Amino acid sequence: MEFQLTDDHLMIRQAARDFAQQVLKPGVIERDRDMKYPTEEVKQMAELGFLGMMVSPEYGGGGMDTVSYVLAMEEISKVDSSCSVIMSVNNSLVCWGLEKYGTEEQKQKYLPDLATGKKIGAFCLSEPEAGSDATSQRTTAEDKGDHYLLNGTKNWITNGGTASVYLVMAQTHPELGHKGINCLIVERGMDGFVVGAKEDKLGIRASDTHTLIFNDVKVPKENRIGDDGFGFKFAMKTLTGGRIGIASQALGIASGSYELALEYAKTRKAFGKEIAQHQAIQFKLADMATEIEAARLLVMKAAWLKDNHMDYDIASSMAKVFASETAMRTSVEAVQIHGGYGYVKEYHVERLMRDAKITQIYEGTSEIQRIVISRGVLK
Ligand code: CAA
Repeated sequence: MEFQLTDDHLMIRQAARDFAQQVLKPGVIERDRDMKYPTEEVKQMAELGFLGMMVSPEYGGGGMDTVSYVLAMEEISKVDSSCSVIMSVNNSLVCWGLEKYGTEEQKQKYLPDLATGKKIGAFCLSEPEAGSDATSQRTTAEDKGDHYLLNGTKNWITNGGTASVYLVMAQTHPELGHKGINCLIVERGMDGFVVGAKEDKLGIRASDTHTLIFNDVKVPKENRIGDDGFGFKFAMKTLTGGRIGIASQALGIASGSYELALEYAKTRKAFGKEIAQHQAIQFKLADMATEIEAARLLVMKAAWLKDNHMDYDIASSMAKVFASETAMRTSVEAVQIHGGYGYVKEYHVERLMRDAKITQIYEGTSEIQRIVISRGVLK
């Protein structure tokens, strides 16, 4: 078994760490408070190649492996999960899905701008009445010969207000259930496509989460990804990889909280010594470190399986459910170790605790991951 990272991996991790600490950290509290989209920071992430890390160089990407991607995701998420979710959706849900299942024309047309961050992508599956129950799509894509007529509403769409390219799941043949769903590439500016309300969220507040409305949007047939009815499988396969990205985001929130708590515990004094000298705190730190290490192994294993073209369906759900629950527990303990200081914004851990919660919800709740895992183990 090889636990060693390559020199390239170490270099990418260091670049992401430097970027997160030097560029993202200074304004992260204000962006969170004001729900301010990180326009300038996303531009810099694009320049550093973080928005199309796994896309082949022939389409303008970095041609890197999934291990590199999760290393960068962890470092960026230690500081700013609003930035890392923008990065994650663009990389794993939009670019990966397009490169894997798109036609050559679709790849040529959309990937270079998405991989270089000139344009941002969004993945549109969730609806007011179809979140976990994703087969129950109410959005319709009526087949009109040379185009589809798209009608419906999508909810909680990351990058909803800033994206230019949207992968939209919609039902074409309701009588076929999930086998009647298609994925269509919708461009901002198409007639009838309206970006609706922006969500005021508990965490990842600087990311841009919107409702989207489609009123008789004419989408050319050539914008369909895969064969007629492939949309649900497309969404599932893409989300399976996406879950590795969110698992690495959760890992970053956990390790970021832990690092802040460790540092604080070594400087803060109570009862005549540093609080790190008290066993009550030592046991907390020991549990946090152990859980983070276990989460990291699961995340890395899922990434490694994907890079080696092996089955990673169950591994990605295991990584996501464990890492997101680790993020939640660790960030709560980090606040506890900080005491009253942990409850105020200046010390960063309360934001990490708020950000942790979403990792148990999006790209499949913890309950959905357990469904995927239990189906796999009972097979
Ligand atoms: N890969 C390929 N195919 C898959 C698959 C996978 N991982 N999972 C399911 N499928 C296929 C099944 O094989 C089946 O196909 P067949 O009928 O041909 O055999 C089909 O899809 C339907 O599968 P199920 O019968 O298992 O469907 P189900 O209704 O029981 O639901 C589910 C399965 C796993 C619960 C699925 O609905 C699911 O993952 N739900 C959660 C959706 C989700 O993650 N939403 C997040 C929104 S995106 C987001 O958050 C992005 C963002 O902005 C951050």
